Amino acid sequence: MRNMWVPEGIRRAIERFREDIQAALENDPAARSVWEVILCYPGLHALWLHRVAHFLWKKRRYLLARLVSHLNRALTGVEIHPGARIGRRVFIDHGMGIVIGETAEVGDDVILYQGVVLGGTSRQKTKRHPTVCNGVVIGAGAILLGPITVGEHARIGAGSVVVRSVPAYATVVGVPAHVARLGNGARPETALEHNRITDPLANALEEIAQRYVELEERVARLERRLLGEGVCAEEGPLPALLKEPDGKEEV
Ligand SMILES: CC(C)(COP(=O)(O)OP(=O)(O)OC[C@H]1O[C@@H](n2cnc3c(N)ncnc32)[C@H](O)[C@@H]1OP(=O)(O)O)[C@@H](O)C(=O)NCCC(=O)NCCS
Repeated sequence: MRNMWVPEGIRRAIERFREDIQAALENDPAARSVWEVILCYPGLHALWLHRVAHFLWKKRRYLLARLVSHLNRALTGVEIHPGARIGRRVFIDHGMGIVIGETAEVGDDVILYQGVVLGGTSRQKTKRHPTVCNGVVIGAGAILLGPITVGEHARIGAGSVVVRSVPAYATVVGVPAHVARLGNGARPETALEHNRITDPLANALEEIAQRYVELEERVARLERRLLGEGVCAEEGPLPALLKEPDGKEEV
């Protein structure tokens, strides 16, 4: 076959086919043979069918492309919109439950586990799905929303919900996702990098503390005013004013 003349398109397709199999063998320690990978890896079948759908999409055969994508979903449990752009040597492990939206872009050597969603947050017909750069690993069940960018070789923890862009080489985890590790393997200096951390509980506590300070200031101002108007003779008069005629304090 090496000496045979093979059309360029076919040659490229065979090369991609080989790369895909190699990626599965390298990334899944459970994979034992080429035939096992070819026959039993729905993630691979999903990629191959997506290439057909994407080809048709680019040729403006939109309905046919959607039909192939629909068939892909039925056979593999992986829903990739035919417009989505997927790079080389991408490895989809297990497959089931993955959803990749129309304007999503996935780079080379990316690993996606089951249940990953690259979803949109807008109804506008613009770029509305994530861009995932080369070498990223996205854990099982992670949900990435909106036109965010996940930098090269970043890692997304299983079950995370990512709504902001992720720096290259960082590890993000949680809901909403926050940086657990930076590119150099260090943990982020949270005191200095508030812009990288979103912790709803901490935010709520901060709001309560701020409100408390505001209320204290208002009470102090009120006390000073009452003192100035001669309503009270000494500082801190509010407790006395709040006393009912029978001597009980109002609550
Ligand atoms: C995120 C991940 C890639 C690990 O990356 P890492 O850079 O090696 O990070 P570590 O394991 O050192 O964890 C860093 C911190 O994040 C936490 N963490 C890791 N994964 C997490 C997750 N999915 N959700 C919440 N927290 C997580 C760790 O407990 C650790 O916290 P600590 O710093 O308070 O101790 C890995 O945990 C993960 O989720 N991989 C996906 C694997 C997968 O989906 N497999 C499916 C096979 S079917």
